[in-house]
Amino acid sequence: MPNKQASTASTPAPTQATPETEGATSENPKSTPATPEKPKATVEPSTSSAENPTAPSNQAPAAPTVSDPATSAPQAPAANPPGFNSPDGGPDCEKVKCVAFTFDDGPGEYTEATLKALKEAGIKATFFQMGRNVAAHPELTKKVVAEGHALGGHSWNHPQLTKLNDKQASWQITATNDAIKAALGHGSNMMRPPYGAFNHRIRTLMKNLNQASILWSVDSLDWKYLDADKSIEYIHQQLGPGGIILMHDIHPVAAKVIPVIVKEYQAKGYHFVTIPQLFKSKGLKPGFSYFKLEEIRGLPQ
Ligand code: NI
Repeated sequence: MPNKQASTASTPAPTQATPETEGATSENPKSTPATPEKPKATVEPSTSSAENPTAPSNQAPAAPTVSDPATSAPQAPAANPPGFNSPDGGPDCEKVKCVAFTFDDGPGEYTEATLKALKEAGIKATFFQMGRNVAAHPELTKKVVAEGHALGGHSWNHPQLTKLNDKQASWQITATNDAIKAALGHGSNMMRPPYGAFNHRIRTLMKNLNQASILWSVDSLDWKYLDADKSIEYIHQQLGPGGIILMHDIHPVAAKVIPVIVKEYQAKGYHFVTIPQLFKSKGLKPGFSYFKLEEIRGLPQ
């Protein structure tokens, strides 16, 4: 989606999501084709819409059943993991410098490597996962949460929600949360719209579906350059207190960037927290948009 990159060229650094302009940003337009493994789920709405985010199917597909019958059939839903998306346990981000790492588009080939890097760095982060990937790899979704990270949806197959009608966009959100429910026994109260693209209509849908919208203030451009040094440089350019870093766990870059950035910024007094921890004092509200600690937009009246 080269036009999206062009639109960012005049900004001093890589993009921050800009929703009020129907905010498509540089956020990983290649993520859909780059999805590392073909999902096993048989519930994917259609291959063509999956590969072309701008041409969704006209039919709202049925909500997915519980993914892979071989692994999910007789099991009762898991109990809610303790502390799932809880704001508890972090520092007071109104008093100390906090920053949140976020990882999109998984679970996928590099989710395990990303988790390992986070564990070695001793920090918690937040993952925004695509419904079809959750359905294909529910064990990875469970592992992310079991290791104490926060988790939200990122649509079923990465369309630009603003280009879908209400029914299609709602399905993208609901089907993804259903896949999360199937994996964890409960859904999530937050999501990240693909490409950071949303408008008043989509925000209203999110509100009605009880979803806070989590954007970002720091684009690492990991998906674009696949180069850890470049991503580290972009993070240096943009990161400040209360920031949210956009990365992807479908590429190997994140696992290389995490230890470097954590070490540097902890030395500067920063604390690495999850999204719910970052907004602990403000709360995550359905339909509201969260770019960084000091940039939250409510629904226009
Ligand atoms: Ni994405």
